[in-house]
Amino acid sequence: HRILCIVGARPNFMKIAPIMAAFSQLGERVQAVLLHTGQHYDVAMNHQYFEALGIPAPDINLEIGSGSHAQQTAAIMQHFEPALEQVQPAAVLVLGDINSTLACALVAVKKGVPVVHVEAGLRSNDRSMPEEINRILTDQISDLLYTTEANALQNLTREGIAAERVRFVGNVMIDTLRHNLARAISLPQILATQGREDFRHDKGYAVLTLHRPSNVDDPAVLRALLETVRTISATLPVVFPLHPRTRGMIEKFGLAGLIDIPQILQLPPMGYLEMLGLMRDARLALTDSGGIQEETTALGVPCVTLRHNTERPITVEQGTNTLAGNDPQAILAIFAEVMEHGGKAGRIPEFWDGHAAERIAQDLCDWLDQRRAA
Ligand code: UD1
Repeated sequence: HRILCIVGARPNFMKIAPIMAAFSQLGERVQAVLLHTGQHYDVAMNHQYFEALGIPAPDINLEIGSGSHAQQTAAIMQHFEPALEQVQPAAVLVLGDINSTLACALVAVKKGVPVVHVEAGLRSNDRSMPEEINRILTDQISDLLYTTEANALQNLTREGIAAERVRFVGNVMIDTLRHNLARAISLPQILATQGREDFRHDKGYAVLTLHRPSNVDDPAVLRALLETVRTISATLPVVFPLHPRTRGMIEKFGLAGLIDIPQILQLPPMGYLEMLGLMRDARLALTDSGGIQEETTALGVPCVTLRHNTERPITVEQGTNTLAGNDPQAILAIFAEVMEHGGKAGRIPEFWDGHAAERIAQDLCDWLDQRRAA
């Protein structure tokens, strides 16, 4: 079976790595073709991940780049159609909730090619998030839906998706985490590489990431968040790798002075192993990322999520995650609580065991066998 696997942006890369590996273990049964839409294109957002995770170089790169949602989604669709015709796969596999996910799924379904969605059924119930729209629409047009947590099935059932199409397999991103944990690169090594041995972190540190449009595109919201981070850094130093979008907004709004202080370490986007080491050794993470909520739960590190909702409720129900929103008082109260009591202990959710990709590869192959026989 020829399976066309789509990646586009950073959060896809750590999810495709174990899937490509699991397909190659099935030998002759599967030929996986890797297509990169080029939604993310900076070296720091791409090559660092492909190299560190041993992802094969993409067979096809559409080199789409940035743009408005409409431009980006439309450009991916236009360029993906001829690639799909050329490859003629038995199925198209898409991951997560980025614009590349929806764009390629939509092209494939209209060409009559089965769509397989990995990380299906997550819902924040917040339609102002572009990712929420991508999730809902991708799930509607997918033939097979692989889920990471049991809550997803209820979401999908509510939206009229037949339960036979849904398979609870666990979390491929946690496969990658388990596989690479021993190789994680810790803060002292990062400081040496960056020439920043002056950064003091004797009593530990918090790791911070911010990139959601709802947090960084509005100057008042971004200012309040950065002021809160500055306050936190007086108690616990903060390590802050900056997403290109966030760096751009901080410059645009003239907010750089707020975080140009010794207790806040600003870094370029980190590679996978660096980010893993930063999270593993942190006293807590502050984030608006989806993936980091899950990774900190897997690592048992407290996570303060700078959002009002999460599409990954298991990280709150069972894991180490607490939702803080973006109100400074609420964030500081939760921060104080975590510092005082060490944060939620949490436990590891079902099937976050390092074998999700193997389950997907096996199940998808069996499904394609049955289709071929029918
Ligand atoms: C995308 C995903 C988001 C994911 C995030 C992880 C969508 C709708 N959003 O958001 O779900 O959490 O990736 O990073 O698909 N830029 C660069 N270099 C790059 C990529 C982006 O400089 O390699 C800058 C550009 O100014 C660009 C902006 O970042 O306009 C936003 O990039 P885009 O791909 O549109 O979305 P992300 O915010 O990265």
